[in-house]
Amino acid sequence: MRKIFAANWKMNKTRPMAAEFAGQLAMALKEGTPEGRLALVFPPFTDIAAVADAFAGINNLAVGGQNFYPAEKGAFTGEISCAMLRDAGANWLLAGHSERRHVFGETDGLIAQKTAFGLEQGFKVMLCVGETLEERNNNQLIGVLQRQLSSAIQPLANGILSKSPDQIAVAYEPVWAIGTGKVAGPDEIREAHAAARKILSDLLGNSSANSVPLLYGGSVNAKNAGSIIALDNVDGLLVGGASLEAPSFLDILRA
Ligand code: PGA
Repeated sequence: MRKIFAANWKMNKTRPMAAEFAGQLAMALKEGTPEGRLALVFPPFTDIAAVADAFAGINNLAVGGQNFYPAEKGAFTGEISCAMLRDAGANWLLAGHSERRHVFGETDGLIAQKTAFGLEQGFKVMLCVGETLEERNNNQLIGVLQRQLSSAIQPLANGILSKSPDQIAVAYEPVWAIGTGKVAGPDEIREAHAAARKILSDLLGNSSANSVPLLYGGSVNAKNAGSIIALDNVDGLLVGGASLEAPSFLDILRA
């Protein structure tokens, strides 16, 4: 399976800054990404076209939208549609990121609607899941993963995901590790990824579950990326802070 190295820029970078980053990445990767690795950037909406332009024609570089609304169009002030994102050059979408869940109050129900809608619109969807510190301390890790994964994936198990399970990727991001510098340890990552894989197997069957990339996210940087990507069941990394500078993201991509 191709490993996925994803940059989540969150609410950072104006268009010139994004174009500069994307140009540096495109220049460094003009012969392609390291073998078997996809570099995927989730810029703010206003930067997507500039990043997609810089990446055009280079293998294994892709662009995604950090958010979208699950309707074709209409009276949804402040929201963005899949058609708009596609037009700007995105072919991936992020759903269920911890900041959408915990800062903006997105529910499992809305995240399930978004996951289904994005896949139906022909996008690849990266579904983010993960427990808060309180949930971890109350031994709720497995229960949280079960709830977050099954609410989004169960309704699609006999539909779109039975035909194309590789359209979805799952990012395990413990909330307590995001933006804190407290990266999860290897045993914690192994345990959560094994549990997520088992839940996916129960939902989709073994062979489909094995084709879903499982990413780790939360305080990944150029120093720890190599040891995390080498762990069993880790098929990629989702990187926030350390993805904001091109040299740092390139080091992670080459880790
Ligand atoms: P971080 O963010 O790498 O800054 O911890 C990861 C994320 O939110 O996806």
